[in-house]
Amino acid sequence: MEDQEYTRQYGHRPVMLDEVLQALNLKPGGVYVDCTVGGGGHGREILRLTAPDGVLIGLDRDPFALRQAAASLAEYGTRAMLLNENFLNLPRVLETLRICAVDGLLYDLGVSSFQLDDPQRGFSYQADGPLDMRMDPAGPVSAKDLVNELSAEELADIFWRYGEERWAKRIATFIAAERERRHIETTGQLAEIIKKAIPARARRSGPHPARRCFQALRIAVNRELDALARSLKEAVPFLKLGGRICVLSFHSLEDRLVKETFREMAVGCKCPPGLPACVCGQGGSLRIITRRPLVPSPEEIARNPRARSARLRVAEKVGLTQV
Ligand SMILES: C[S@@+](CC[C@H](N)C(=O)[O-])C[C@H]1O[C@@H](n2cnc3c(N)ncnc32)[C@H](O)[C@@H]1O
Repeated sequence: MEDQEYTRQYGHRPVMLDEVLQALNLKPGGVYVDCTVGGGGHGREILRLTAPDGVLIGLDRDPFALRQAAASLAEYGTRAMLLNENFLNLPRVLETLRICAVDGLLYDLGVSSFQLDDPQRGFSYQADGPLDMRMDPAGPVSAKDLVNELSAEELADIFWRYGEERWAKRIATFIAAERERRHIETTGQLAEIIKKAIPARARRSGPHPARRCFQALRIAVNRELDALARSLKEAVPFLKLGGRICVLSFHSLEDRLVKETFREMAVGCKCPPGLPACVCGQGGSLRIITRRPLVPSPEEIARNPRARSARLRVAEKVGLTQV
């Protein structure tokens, strides 16, 4: 399937596709894990470039996304192993599959366009729908629970911390006042309250007034940052020496977390880039390939505005031992 045809059918354009494929150093017969397979946009190209016998293990916590991946990767048969799992469970998944080391790991964080665009999933401030935002529909907490049950202080903290929303306190106060009158059930209701809370002069420029708060709630509902930090540390031991880990993030907090986690795991190693294993013997399990994150080209942003905040960080497994 051509790239454009894939986008038309699945409604999601894989972000920084060429950069990711190059960074992964793909080779035929390799085993790669796409920790956030989504509709299989990156996964499909990984399978194509690792033919005839490369394997893709694709995880997603959203069963709907996984069904999309199953359809878009069907032509690859058993070379694509798709599992409805949180990437936090990667160590257990690999153990069950009796795979002790893999050639590459990819995390493409956030949500797919088809998740954002479906009002029933509750991610969008632009279309009315139930206030949900769970990537895993069986997850314990929805956005409705947080918005109706947290204190105004806790809500303000979420809006400020994960959304860098300067009107966080005022918005949280407006929400607390509104829910005294009626339960907040829909994205439309919440977007309206946020709009009312932000003074008109501050609303005149910039993105939609509800964008930051919706993003913040999504991160809180899905505990995205906690899961990422833990998963990166637990996944790297499964990389083969010379294997690459690539993380595409869309939020400054995520990018900082990736940068710091990579740095922590790289401490000690003084080897120059390109060696298949650490020879300096000074420790560290990663060598950082991208000192600064790679960003999408202006052409890609023009084609796909959702790519504009993407940051790609890459590191390579080094060291003397592995699992
Ligand atoms: C941006 S999309 C991936 C798109 C994919 N790379 C493509 O090109 O089609 C991110 C996906 O990650 C999934 N996801 C987010 N956090 C996850 C987690 N902790 N475990 C597994 N999947 C997760 C989301 O459900 C979503 O489908």
